[in-house]
Amino acid sequence: MTRPSPANLRAFVRRATELQPVPDLPDIRLQTAADVTVVWHLAAAELGQPDPPLPFWAFAWAGGLAVSRYLVEHPEEVAGRRVVDLATGSGLCAIVAARLGAASVHAYDIDPLAEAAMHLNARANRVHVAFRLTDLLAEPAPNCDVILAGDVCYEETMASRMIDWLREAAGAGTRILLGDPGRNYLPAGLERLASYSIHTTRELEEAEVKESGVYTMPDKVPADRDPPRPAGPTGRKIARPNVLNGGVRNGSSLEAEESR
Ligand SMILES: C[S@@+](CC[C@H](N)C(=O)[O-])C[C@H]1O[C@@H](n2cnc3c(N)ncnc32)[C@H](O)[C@@H]1O
Repeated sequence: MTRPSPANLRAFVRRATELQPVPDLPDIRLQTAADVTVVWHLAAAELGQPDPPLPFWAFAWAGGLAVSRYLVEHPEEVAGRRVVDLATGSGLCAIVAARLGAASVHAYDIDPLAEAAMHLNARANRVHVAFRLTDLLAEPAPNCDVILAGDVCYEETMASRMIDWLREAAGAGTRILLGDPGRNYLPAGLERLASYSIHTTRELEEAEVKESGVYTMPDKVPADRDPPRPAGPTGRKIARPNVLNGGVRNGSSLEAEESR
């Protein structure tokens, strides 16, 4: 089965979600869903894939919410700067950075539905965010001032690749802002900049409020890096896509795109 066109993917995101406010970020609205499983099954049918990626793009995750709240409190971190949002999902962090006056914002994800959601959300929030559908971790870090990474430490292999790549970027002088609510594979030894009580839902997490941190990385890679925390039962193959920690129910511009 051929992949639906970008326009069809956006139409699907509109059908599967609603434009809704985001907790504690009164100026931001995102296309979000209430039920992970429902959206996951809808995505499977839409994409013709029995086991599509989890619909991360249909939710604002605690790590991204923490980064966003930090940026609202510290707009100087992104204002006038070239920003990359790694693993953008809905586009939340990218959109907040753009609204706070970033010179440019480039969002990256590997899920075509994230691309669709990010474009819809950028438009709904009246900002421009460029998007590339690619595994950025397979490339050197792009030339930018700040890299945002919301909630990227939930799966062992991915988290390890993310952290290694982010450390390289930090070593080259890029400011890293990583948001995390204590996922299993958040490494120790990061520098904590801020903490937030993030309002989320039991659909996604084991609690309605998740204590979440925003971390940065030193620009020197320490020789004796801390190993990741012990693994929880997180895994990609799960009966119910409710995901991120073990114990939780357990995985261009729009205008140009419109003419495709
Ligand atoms: C938990 S979601 C976080 C989304 C958003 N940052 C937030 O906090 O709401 C994780 C995202 O990472 C993306 N992802 C996973 N591996 C990736 C990779 N190698 N490169 C870019 N994105 C990736 C997934 O597709 C998903 O959208």
